Amino acid sequence: MTAPPTLPAWPYPRWIAHRGAGLLAPENTLAAFRLGASLGYRMFECDVKLSSDDVPFLLHDDTLERTTSPGTGVPQDGPPHDAIAGAQPWRQLATRDAGQWHSSAYAGEAMPTLAQITRFCRAGGHCLNIEIKPTTGTALHTGAVVAAQAHSLWHGAPVAPLLSSFEVEALQGARLSAPSLPRALLLDTLWEGWLQAALDLHCVALVCNYTLWTPQTVAQAKAAGLRCLSYTVNDEAAAAQLVAWGTEGIITDRVDHFRPDAPLAT
Ligand code: G3P
Ligand code: MG
Repeated sequence: MTAPPTLPAWPYPRWIAHRGAGLLAPENTLAAFRLGASLGYRMFECDVKLSSDDVPFLLHDDTLERTTSPGTGVPQDGPPHDAIAGAQPWRQLATRDAGQWHSSAYAGEAMPTLAQITRFCRAGGHCLNIEIKPTTGTALHTGAVVAAQAHSLWHGAPVAPLLSSFEVEALQGARLSAPSLPRALLLDTLWEGWLQAALDLHCVALVCNYTLWTPQTVAQAKAAGLRCLSYTVNDEAAAAQLVAWGTEGIITDRVDHFRPDAPLAT
């Protein structure tokens, strides 16, 4: 059996707070990042898409409905509740309240831009996993614009942001506009050709639904020179198994349970 290739040092922490730390605080907001950081998290995953005027900002869904509400003083021309977020200019999106839906303690929290989140991360020395989450039908463009802006925002940082996406086209766009930024293919299933697709995109990692990892799939990925990360791991036994298999990264919602500095209880 051939030994897996020796990989360059992996610069990212193992523990990654999902959607900022978006269970105890509203997902993909600065408040969530602050909460995760206060609990010792040094790396964050977030979902980034584009407004209609190409401002990269944090939001998971295509629509505004689930995680925002009209803010106070909302302008008359503000977007309707079920609007496609990516069809709105940033000046309208910036007025939405992205905290009230979660709990009244977070009322008034805004959707942050990628630039705002980058400032927070760089000031605190945190790492970032930018999941490119294109509005339906905009993958190549979103990948290109998000990667270009990430490249410029993170210029000179000791550790570059890790760009990931479920959409091959988004990663193609990222590779075209900022080839030096590391990329990871997200997988919810092992679709035909998954490994070759990651290699064709010059990815450094796979970020899989954690149930896809087995000793065999880990060995396959490592033999191909790819790091192995998982989402969204909220179960202690599953986390311990992933660590034992030699995977490198765990994205979790349970920032109050998994403490990045403490060893796993196995
Ligand atoms: O990036 C990992 C994970 O966030 C992917 O799933 O739906 O939570 O964005 P989702
Ligand atoms: Mg995500």
